[in-house]
Amino acid sequence: MQDTTTPHGLYVNRRRFFQLSAALTAGTAFGLDSPAAGALDEKYLEALEALECAPDLTLPQETLTPFKNIVRYNNYYEFSPDKKAPAILAQALDTSDWHIDIGGLVKQPLRLSVAPLLARALVHRQYRLRCVEGWSMVIPWCGIPLHTILSQVDATPEARYIKFTGTYEPEAMIGQRRNALDWPYIEGLRLDEARNPLTLLALGLYDKALTKQNGAPLRLVVPWKYGFKSIKAIKKIEFVHEQPVTTWMKKAPAEYGFYANVNPSVPHPRWSQRREVRIGEVKKRRTEMFNGYAQYVEHMYEGMSLSDHF
Ligand code: MTE
Repeated sequence: MQDTTTPHGLYVNRRRFFQLSAALTAGTAFGLDSPAAGALDEKYLEALEALECAPDLTLPQETLTPFKNIVRYNNYYEFSPDKKAPAILAQALDTSDWHIDIGGLVKQPLRLSVAPLLARALVHRQYRLRCVEGWSMVIPWCGIPLHTILSQVDATPEARYIKFTGTYEPEAMIGQRRNALDWPYIEGLRLDEARNPLTLLALGLYDKALTKQNGAPLRLVVPWKYGFKSIKAIKKIEFVHEQPVTTWMKKAPAEYGFYANVNPSVPHPRWSQRREVRIGEVKKRRTEMFNGYAQYVEHMYEGMSLSDHF
């Protein structure tokens, strides 16, 4: 476990990495049979530890939420609406040989497999995660700024938004056998939001490979927005012209907006957003505008009435 003040270590062992990366490409090093709840795939973990994961931005430093809470209290409706169930049920998802397709309004679509993504320099980002239900965590992620992935393709001038699509595997994801939500899970960002330096594709947390219940092998993290925007287990990233209709907007349009910026002055119909409780703590704390990341993001919303954009 990491303390809250020590900077991240560097994990550079290129020779070992290339051996592991060959194994990853062959699909042998990912967790096919993670045995227990919260268990980490040892080989995937080893591969991640062979990489470089260092802080690249100066971010607010706070007490981190303990690892055990991050991996045992999850929202992952593809498995269950219960907070504790994904830690067990998500182990059924096969994250080996995973690839993401980047396409839509681009000159040349691109397919990326996770193994070469791991070969890049990963950044360490300690972010607050604020759920619209009124709880929050502080999570040390490890990943790739999304803009570096998006810049690998040439978007056409019509592209205005990015649409993210999760995976649809009802055999493994037992929650998808019910129609509680419209599957697969869909999310979206405006192009400038997607290119904002804070927007991250996470591959790890707490110096370890991302656990399946937290969205392995890779998920979005948008720290100034409510947690439901941070889609897990992404399969597709598309440049689109129209604002995507996201899963939660479709389910309850009066409750979930497209922007969903953390905003203590705009109440959700069921939950006041003024205060929040950190998982593992008892006392409530005040929720901050943009979840405390205003300096990085408020310029994107100049001239926009934020009270209209839950
Ligand atoms: N992504 C998918 N694919 N399915 C989900 O149900 N839940 C969202 C988000 N991403 C969800 C998802 C919600 S509501 C929250 S609060 C966060 O994931 C929770 O992330 P965590 O379980 O890693 O804390």
